[in-house]
Amino acid sequence: MSKIVITGATGELGQLVVQHLLEKVPANQIAVSVRNVEKASKFADQGIEVRYGDYDDPSSLEKAFAGASKLLLISTPQDDSVVRIRKHVDAIEAAKKAGVKHLLYTSFAAVDKGAFPPLGDVHSATEYTLRASGLSTTILRNAFYQEVFVNESLQSFVDSGVIVTSAGKGKVNTVERNDLALAAATVLAGEGHEDKVYELASSETWNYDELANILSDVSGKNVTHQSMSDSEALERMVNSGVPEGFAHFQIALYNSIADGNEGNASSDLEDLIGRKPTSIRESITHFFNK
Ligand SMILES: NC(=O)c1ccc[n+]([C@@H]2O[C@H](COP(=O)([O-])OP(=O)(O)OC[C@H]3O[C@@H](n4cnc5c(N)ncnc54)[C@H](OP(=O)(O)O)[C@@H]3O)[C@@H](O)[C@H]2O)c1
Repeated sequence: MSKIVITGATGELGQLVVQHLLEKVPANQIAVSVRNVEKASKFADQGIEVRYGDYDDPSSLEKAFAGASKLLLISTPQDDSVVRIRKHVDAIEAAKKAGVKHLLYTSFAAVDKGAFPPLGDVHSATEYTLRASGLSTTILRNAFYQEVFVNESLQSFVDSGVIVTSAGKGKVNTVERNDLALAAATVLAGEGHEDKVYELASSETWNYDELANILSDVSGKNVTHQSMSDSEALERMVNSGVPEGFAHFQIALYNSIADGNEGNASSDLEDLIGRKPTSIRESITHFFNK
């Protein structure tokens, strides 16, 4: 029987995709391609076929993708950009050899509009490879995960009463993984999505002034946003213990936000999942009340 095959299924996004897909198709129509088969035992318990597929072992991928009616290629985790591109190209070649009918790839929102190049370049290169491959594809351009911004760091903003950035009033578009996973499962279980590019972003964007206001409302403590120069913001982060490499990455992101590259809105996600995605205010409220 041909299957819907999901890579990265042991990861945070992949697990949610499988969860949503199980509500739409029977377990025996789903297979996962994972590098650690033991870690995927809960899928086997649910009746899902578990296949070994490691991006670092390209020969394993052709077998893992064999007979897939649809393959969800979840992009590889943070690594050297060239290494990531090579892994994606290997996976695309394996999909072709395996006769995959339709490949879905998790790209990055607004890559064609210059969104955050340290991440965007990898996804642009992968999108080009997919176009050149001749495969039938759907590109799921995922916005920044809301969880990248809604996490333990919020408590330190509440404790200090200040969010320091160099992002100015620039806007950013974020979406919870769960909403992105629902959209992916909807496309995997549905028809008519071939050769489409979906911008899986929110129709609403936010900036750090608004984030500070939401934090004040939710925590009951006054939190303000101070936008400084890059060098001042970098110094503050490093002095407060943020590792230097990550601090530089953060400044690059603030620059991209300030330049307006991260604030592109779209209704594609809302249209696919049939409701508004979870807002940043809802995520923060949930985070502080859980
Ligand atoms: N839009 C955003 O804001 C954003 C943020 C972060 C990441 N991302 C991208 O979205 C992807 C999914 O996000 P996530 O939160 O689910 O990441 P995650 O939790 O780190 O999951 C990554 C998945 O990739 C698998 N993997 C890693 N190396 C592999 C290899 N060599 N061969 C086969 N599988 C391998 C992992 O397997 P194991 O369980 O065995 O480790 C895991 O299943 C990330 O990989 C990254 O490309 C997007």
